[in-house]
Amino acid sequence: MSEFTADRLLLFGATGDLARRKLLPSLCALDADDLLPENLQIIATARSGHDDEAYRAFAKAALEEHLPNDRRAQIGRFLGRLTYQPLDATTLGGFANLAEIVGAPDHGLAIFLSTAPSLFGPTITGLEHAGLTGETVRIGLEKPLGNDLTSSCAINDAVASAFPEDRIFRIDHYLGKETVQNLLALRFANILFEPIWNSKYISHVQITVAETVGLEGRVGFYDDAGALRDMVQNHMLQLLSLVAMEPPTSFDATAVRDEKVKVLRALRPANASETVTGQYRAGAIAGAAVLGYDEELGKASSTETFVAIKAHLDNWRWKGVPFYLRTGKRLPERVTEILVRFADVPHSIFTVNGSGQSPVMRPNHLLIGIQPEENITLSLMAKVPGLDEEGLALREVPLAIAMPDAFSEAHRRIAYERLLLDLVKGDQTLFVRRDEVEAQWHWIDAIRAEWQRHGVTPKTYTAGSWGPSASIALAERDGVSWHE
Ligand code: BG6
Repeated sequence: MSEFTADRLLLFGATGDLARRKLLPSLCALDADDLLPENLQIIATARSGHDDEAYRAFAKAALEEHLPNDRRAQIGRFLGRLTYQPLDATTLGGFANLAEIVGAPDHGLAIFLSTAPSLFGPTITGLEHAGLTGETVRIGLEKPLGNDLTSSCAINDAVASAFPEDRIFRIDHYLGKETVQNLLALRFANILFEPIWNSKYISHVQITVAETVGLEGRVGFYDDAGALRDMVQNHMLQLLSLVAMEPPTSFDATAVRDEKVKVLRALRPANASETVTGQYRAGAIAGAAVLGYDEELGKASSTETFVAIKAHLDNWRWKGVPFYLRTGKRLPERVTEILVRFADVPHSIFTVNGSGQSPVMRPNHLLIGIQPEENITLSLMAKVPGLDEEGLALREVPLAIAMPDAFSEAHRRIAYERLLLDLVKGDQTLFVRRDEVEAQWHWIDAIRAEWQRHGVTPKTYTAGSWGPSASIALAERDGVSWHE
């Protein structure tokens, strides 16, 4: 672990969408809470020819658009930390100027790379050339880091030629979400769940990441990626590994990531018949008409905007427990949740009077809401009040915790706040290690190869629906209904 707190942060891609919507607001919000090192200077760089003043105006507009009112206390101070240096990352010359602005990096420099993947290689070369890769420099990398195992390895090799793994911080912004980290607290800070967190007591797990948005103008990128690579390869597999991992010995980067990678390596290659792909057609979201994917794109395409997968983990704990994953664009609501369905009770002692039949019993489930609602609900069977002349009646009731109510003093943070702070301070626990990324791609590439072998093309679904009906059938074949 590289033990230094950076006093300079160098942002590549500083005029991009991510910088505007997430990075600048996160940094400003951290500043408002006095969480940034007092002397932290932020050097922004991108191709556009701004000067400091023009960039500060750009940043101010971004903050006014994307930062909640109650977190804008220190905009002035924050803007004072920013300087801007235009750079064409494909030419070495510019890096010398950049190094001059950055100054000697002996106090600690954190670099955040949020640029087109094609610029990763040249940027690393430029940084090396300018002496910006020394022991007091660490680098954060934003996705997409390649679009298959081969291209991901090429990027990782390029970065590894200049930085050792303990100074490389690969970002999966889902790991910065408070509720995702809470999964670890729920599992490992309570005695209740761990003894039953296995195939004996859990019948299946569902992970849903549903979005209402469509292409959002990311035409070129998304059509080359699709839902499997854009969402499953990273965010959903990270959620799955946190749900399924063995207890790490401590909450530190090596222990946590060692356990996650074992889960990723235990993923069984999925058959084409265990996956469903879809692409949305015109429909309505929240009452408003929206275009179909092909119309937004302006051409026909075979890219999937929806995917559902029945995944298996080949290890002792999870033998025979399906993990149903689904994600899609233009679904009816924005929701990320994990449902853990427990087994049936082994024997019912309750009968409906005289009939010898049991009243309806539902297996317990634990529903972990990641977003937008941060709720944890455990469903329990309870007796319906009454004199029970027909025999005891049972009904499912929720034991629910709304996290925002339980912690009303805390404000909701942007996922990047946590990640940027950890990058500046050098804690890798919530960043993805190279072996994890490669295990993720290994599984994803095998699915894409299956699709190719079987000529799988996406089925259409109406925007505002829960994806193609085949996705419902995928679960129903096993007597399972998706949680909605
Ligand atoms: C990104 C994907 O990684 O995550 C986007 O590229 C997606 O397509 C986004 O919309 C979802 O993030 P969140 O935090 O809004 O759930």
